[in-house]
Amino acid sequence: MNLTLEQLTKQFGRKRAVDNMDVTLSPGVYGLLGANGAGKTTLMRMICGVLNPTEGKILMDGQDICECRNNYYRLLGYLPQDFGYYPDFTAGEFMYYIAALKGLNDKMAKNMTEELLDVVSLSDVADKKIRTFSGGMKQRLGIAQAVLNNPEILVLDEPTAGLDPKERVRFRNLIADFSKDKIVILSTHIVSDVEYIADTILMMKGGRLLLRGSVEEVTDSMRDKVWKYVVGREDIDRINERFCVANLHHLDDGNVEVRIISDRQPFADAAFAEPTLEDLYLYHFQNQ
Ligand SMILES: Nc1ncnc2c1ncn2[C@@H]1O[C@H](COP(=O)(O)OP(=O)(O)OP(=O)(O)O)[C@@H](O)[C@H]1O
Ligand SMILES: [Mg+2]
Repeated sequence: MNLTLEQLTKQFGRKRAVDNMDVTLSPGVYGLLGANGAGKTTLMRMICGVLNPTEGKILMDGQDICECRNNYYRLLGYLPQDFGYYPDFTAGEFMYYIAALKGLNDKMAKNMTEELLDVVSLSDVADKKIRTFSGGMKQRLGIAQAVLNNPEILVLDEPTAGLDPKERVRFRNLIADFSKDKIVILSTHIVSDVEYIADTILMMKGGRLLLRGSVEEVTDSMRDKVWKYVVGREDIDRINERFCVANLHHLDDGNVEVRIISDRQPFADAAFAEPTLEDLYLYHFQNQ
């Protein structure tokens, strides 16, 4: 299955939230990165059919999704960024409810609910009301409901927001297990969340697609832009003012190794450092 975005554009008044995006997605995990307001949520809402494009279209295997909506929705799983929960539902009731909306029969709904609540470690609280859940628990329930119908296209808008480090690891494993032969698109600000699981990074800025490639490919574009340099503690404020500093590492001798992102060599004896995806993100979004 392929999903093709053709000149996809969304205009809100004078604001062009998504600006002429052309991209084809085949099965794989896509990490959608971008600063606040880059257009990630708007793009995902169009992909999920909850928002109509102002211009352009979305094709599934060559067919406009507007012309095959019912079929398309059946293949889709979606975790919206601001997911509305029903506080008086229990986790189990909520899953059944979503299962009914997605057209699963009773047996399937029961089996999938049990299985998925277990996967997201909510089996013990299946009978507790959602109003008693922490942010991370609600988020895990949101992930579980998104995959209830075993979707071919899974769209997760900031799925790891509110998850603790252990839950993040579980989430990654869940996606890795789930994603075979499927299109999974997940947005985040947290670079490390996509670094390990995304086959392809899509970086958006100002509604446009800035970069596309594997983690290695896109970080490689930073190869001559990341530097390390050792300074005294007293110099740090000055360096912070002049450069984009990605990291400070305090050394045993009292000095500090600074990691600087810069097109040009910041100091005569600054050395190249191995670039990371986070460096790339900082390079493009340091002023946002
Ligand atoms: N319904 C709307 N009406 C008007 N403007 C909107 C609407 N939705 C989004 N925008 C604007 O479109 C731009 C893109 O917003 P969007 O929510 O898609 O960004 P985002 O990348 O998801 O940001 P974040 O990381 O904060 O979630 C922003 O400038 C936002 O203010
Ligand atoms: Mg968003």
